Amino acid sequence: MSTKSRQGPSQKEENISHNVRLIPVYIMGKRYLVPETLTIMKAMEYAGYRFIRGCGCRGGICGACATVYRKPGDYHIYIGLACQTVVEPDMYLTQIPFYPANRARYDFARLSAKPEEIFKLYPEVFRCLACNTCTKSCPMDVPVMDVISAIKQGNIEKAARLSFSCIQCGLCVSRCMGELPQYHIAQLARRIYGSKIAPRAPHLAQAVEKANSEGCQETLKKLMKLEEKELRNVYQAREIEPEMVGEDWTPAGRDYL
Ligand code: SF4
Ligand code: SF4
Ligand code: FES
Repeated sequence: MSTKSRQGPSQKEENISHNVRLIPVYIMGKRYLVPETLTIMKAMEYAGYRFIRGCGCRGGICGACATVYRKPGDYHIYIGLACQTVVEPDMYLTQIPFYPANRARYDFARLSAKPEEIFKLYPEVFRCLACNTCTKSCPMDVPVMDVISAIKQGNIEKAARLSFSCIQCGLCVSRCMGELPQYHIAQLARRIYGSKIAPRAPHLAQAVEKANSEGCQETLKKLMKLEEKELRNVYQAREIEPEMVGEDWTPAGRDYL
């Protein structure tokens, strides 16, 4: 959610933007002139809105800035992330920073890896009408309807893999005529897959073993005894991974490995 802290750009501000074309956009029904190069989020700030909700990472990751808009002469409903979508002339837009979606309560440790667990917690999966509106609403290109279909078919791994890019923006939920909370359902599938179905990675077991080794524990104890300032110094003096380095980079200093 955002609040309006001042009026839209003044004539002076418009003149300041002499190198950039200003275009009209309608934010919650009111017309503003904004630079054509801005994202919706920046255009709203340019127009005088201050984000107190509906803005997090500004990098397309957190899902806080779900936005819907329409364009003149076009019946489609468009969706996007305000921090990623560039404004277009005459677009009518608003943000939906939060959309209610019931999340089932469960004791995850007691759940089995059977799909029936999901069916019990989210019986509404069977209300899906396969309209595919959720898929068309997703700014992350998650095939949301296929995720729900996979769950109905009992294929938790498929649902988990297909929904990996979900950022929980809520746009699919806002459009679902079956009234499903798709992102919570998919998240449960990913949790079950990650915790109870996916094979254990050998390198993880090795890393845990190493972390429990005497040498590593000693180093950890030494670090825990440091004052905050000393700890900061150690952190700041650490060997930093160079840019553009391959995946198998390891620091020359082995003190903390
Ligand atoms: S929008 Fe809802 S009803 Fe339509 S396909 Fe997606 S989950 Fe099913
Ligand atoms: S699956 Fe739904 S909640 Fe997840 S990113 Fe796509 S639209 Fe947003
Ligand atoms: S602010 Fe995080 S996705 Fe837009």
